[in-house]
Amino acid sequence: MEALQLALRAVTWPGDCVGQESPTYFFLFPLLASLGLKALETPTDPQHGLSLDALEMLLQEQRIQALIAMPSAQNPLGYCMSRQNKQRLAKLVNTYKVPLLEDGLYDELQFDWQLSPAVKSFDSDGWVIYCTSFTKTVAPDFRIGRIAAAVGNPGGVSRQRRLRSPFAHAAPPLLRQYGRGARFDRPLFSAGHARNAAARRLCILG
Ligand SMILES: Cc1ncc(COP(=O)(O)O)c(C=O)c1O
Repeated sequence: MEALQLALRAVTWPGDCVGQESPTYFFLFPLLASLGLKALETPTDPQHGLSLDALEMLLQEQRIQALIAMPSAQNPLGYCMSRQNKQRLAKLVNTYKVPLLEDGLYDELQFDWQLSPAVKSFDSDGWVIYCTSFTKTVAPDFRIGRIAAAVGNPGGVSRQRRLRSPFAHAAPPLLRQYGRGARFDRPLFSAGHARNAAARRLCILG
């Protein structure tokens, strides 16, 4: 949430309209409201994800100034957009120059061990801001945002971070140390195996 809030503050102004998936993570609504932003819901398909045709129409009509989406392991539907659709999404936001805040919170928790690439990996001109945190992978109380964004992105995410997040100065060195070596990857790897085994058992029961 910290990452999304910082990124929103960096790329929007109060009164702007932000596109989001329908349904979406319920807490995005109070987050947008607290920043004086309006929400515009964009239809999704439970298997294929965000409707890119509907999104393209919104972009053409200049109805949104930013977009928040979870292209992988979406909350609450769980879908993962195909590689092709992720490429098209990256192309759309770069063509229309509308920032996409890619919420990658559950990316490492996908069922397939071969993780689907983030939309950020197809970002040509820096219009995708990748936002995540450590709460679902390291510890629920590590509510510290992690952002991958182009240097000089509109509004400057790092400037917002300095303004808004005093804790951010102490925590990153700590987490960097933790992330060195296999401490971060190894538990995720065994968790991935456990999830796959549980999913196989559910399929057998079904
Ligand atoms: C989709 C989604 N985005 C963002 C958040 C907030 O993340 P954090 O708990 O790291 O602040 C959550 C929390 O559950 C979530 O489900």
